[in-house]
Amino acid sequence: MNEPYGPEAPRPISSTSGTMKIFMGFLAVFVVVQTIGTVLFCLYLHMKMDKMEEVLSLNEDYIFLKKVQKCQTAEGHKSTLLDCEKILKGFQNIQCEGRSCGSPCRGMLRGQWKRQPIAVHLAGQQSNKAGSVLEWKETMYGPTNSLISNKEGKLKVEEAGLYYIYSQVSFCTKEVSLAPFTLYIYLHIPKEEDRLLLKGQKTQSTLKSLCELQSIRVGGVFSLREGDMVFVNVTDSTKVKYSHGNTYFGIFKL
Ligand SMILES: *[C@@H]1O[C@H](CO)[C@@H](O)[C@H](O)[C@H]1NC(C)=O
Repeated sequence: MNEPYGPEAPRPISSTSGTMKIFMGFLAVFVVVQTIGTVLFCLYLHMKMDKMEEVLSLNEDYIFLKKVQKCQTAEGHKSTLLDCEKILKGFQNIQCEGRSCGSPCRGMLRGQWKRQPIAVHLAGQQSNKAGSVLEWKETMYGPTNSLISNKEGKLKVEEAGLYYIYSQVSFCTKEVSLAPFTLYIYLHIPKEEDRLLLKGQKTQSTLKSLCELQSIRVGGVFSLREGDMVFVNVTDSTKVKYSHGNTYFGIFKL
């Protein structure tokens, strides 16, 4: 009588194992789905982070451009909070990236944004060298520019164009002299004779033993070519006064 029961007996067992199988199946599916979900979520997060980084770097770029803009205004340039030289240099480098950044690039930049003007203002410097050509040194607030070099008193321009050239020389005469004190600005072109550009004169004092201080100032616009040099000489450089603001030499491109 057990016979008919025999096949029945394992049934509950097989049903339990069936449930187990279904449960295991669900578990497996759940684990797989969970894994896929996690991977997708990680991917999403990663992409989102990339975007955030991009946004952050764009923000940085925006701030940088703002600084460049500030530095190009006069008040901004004076601000000590901004390191304008560095910022503008950085900006120039970005613009030059990928191009050979020699003078052609500088030339191109010139048209694009307000560059440093080509201007130099120097103060007289006492020189122990014999000779009538005056020597010059940089001043605290006077501009300098790499496109104008100063070699032994001669200012050399690296770019052709119209330039305003000016100079003042203060001098002191003690003894009587019939010859006037004269200030000259000469143009020096290599392998050519020096050419007089400007001349200023003052009659020397006849007052004895007293230093009569006088100044001569000259200035004018001239067309210079690349490599041209200008210099100042005077009839007697020993009489020149070098105290602050008295004697100077400057040039700027129009
Ligand atoms: C000044 O320089 C010019 C040009 O080189 C020269 O001819 C002239 O003699 C100089 N003047 C004086 C006073 O040395």
